[in-house]
Amino acid sequence: MQTITLLKDKRIILAATGSIAVYKAVDLASKLTQVGALVDVIMTDSAQRFVAPITFKAVTGRAVYTDMWQADNSGGLPTHIAHVGLGEGADLMAVVPATANTIAKLATGIADNLLTVTALAARCPLLIAPAMDGGMYEHPATQANIETLLKRGAYLVEPEEGRFASGLIGRGRLPDTQTLIGHIRLLLAQNGALHGNHVVVTAGGTREALDPVRFIGNHSSGKQGYALAQAALDVGAKVTLISTVDLPTPIGAKLDKVDSAESMLEAVLHYALKELHRILIMSAAVADFRPATRSVQKIKKKDDDSAPTLVLERTADILQSVKAARDSTIDRLSPSVVVGFAAESENLLNNARIKLERKGLDLIVANDITATDAGFASDYNRVVILDRDGGREEIERQSKTQISERVIERVADILTQRA
Ligand code: CTP
Repeated sequence: MQTITLLKDKRIILAATGSIAVYKAVDLASKLTQVGALVDVIMTDSAQRFVAPITFKAVTGRAVYTDMWQADNSGGLPTHIAHVGLGEGADLMAVVPATANTIAKLATGIADNLLTVTALAARCPLLIAPAMDGGMYEHPATQANIETLLKRGAYLVEPEEGRFASGLIGRGRLPDTQTLIGHIRLLLAQNGALHGNHVVVTAGGTREALDPVRFIGNHSSGKQGYALAQAALDVGAKVTLISTVDLPTPIGAKLDKVDSAESMLEAVLHYALKELHRILIMSAAVADFRPATRSVQKIKKKDDDSAPTLVLERTADILQSVKAARDSTIDRLSPSVVVGFAAESENLLNNARIKLERKGLDLIVANDITATDAGFASDYNRVVILDRDGGREEIERQSKTQISERVIERVADILTQRA
């Protein structure tokens, strides 16, 4: 797994309590470690009935803490007062899974084991991911305790509905690892460079219908757009993703599914122009032409073997429409930063610079679509970022995630310069 910049070297206390879902917390500990986090696990006595401490130790490579009275936590943090040492300097405490019992203790401030004592001593954000069987989650007592914790600033990962170990159906299942990591990222990012800003990202290629079954499309996979959405979330932005594809939506992003250039235009104008502090990143491959007429019925083959002639018409240019709308508003502030992409097969820099100027962009990210080891559908890209002051930054072949993080950094720099 690739390192996640936001999680790299972050010290996360993963506090596991006694629910069967504790086996899923092992996977969470493993994945968090693989992406670069330093995971210190605390287990309650009940948690150890389901999984042994050695299991967590094996996947994190770090000490596992079980006992408040243990003087030396066998190679763990260099302190004999484990609860203070664990909480000190931690970036986040995640109670996963959190039983009704531990939630009740946390809500009332009971401190009778290492986990609850650490929670009182720690000053980092607290994430709670409840997991419990048979109606316990919906019980008014549990709900009241959760309410108390939320009021105190805790972050709740809602359990999912489904089948419990008991066979009963209800709400109380721990979400999967990727979802949990998504929530951990959101909580860690809350004071990031773009917090208080709303980033609108478009992703994927548009589809222009010919009839109810056929369309004209392109090779865009949408991966770059989704990576941009995640990178914006990782610096605390509110994110709306306007997409034509079906990739997993990053946790915390609002998804608006569109298909044609026209529906994407409508969505962009809706989200990008209505509020201040908006940033628009157009990474979608928008069709420039569409069939001039759309047949209501499926176009059938003719007996004489003739083929239909396709007549195309131009679509609206979304960025040009945003520019026109922006120029006509009095404060000309919404959206405050606009980023375009340029897919070129020749004269990369010249063509990109012309587009940057014509479309009134702050930045343009240009890539050569003839490259065979990067670009369309690949997880990698090789780009040049041009800015409106004539600056040029070449980024050698990197993952779309890394490129997205750089683009988002450049956006944050522009906002800082203007502040
Ligand atoms: N774009 C847009 N609306 C369109 C076409 C493109 O907003 N109808 C945006 C893209 O999302 C991208 C930028 O404009 O951010 C450049 O897109 P690109 O396809 O490279 O360029 P075009 O403007 O379509 O010009 P050309 O086809 O001549 O290269």
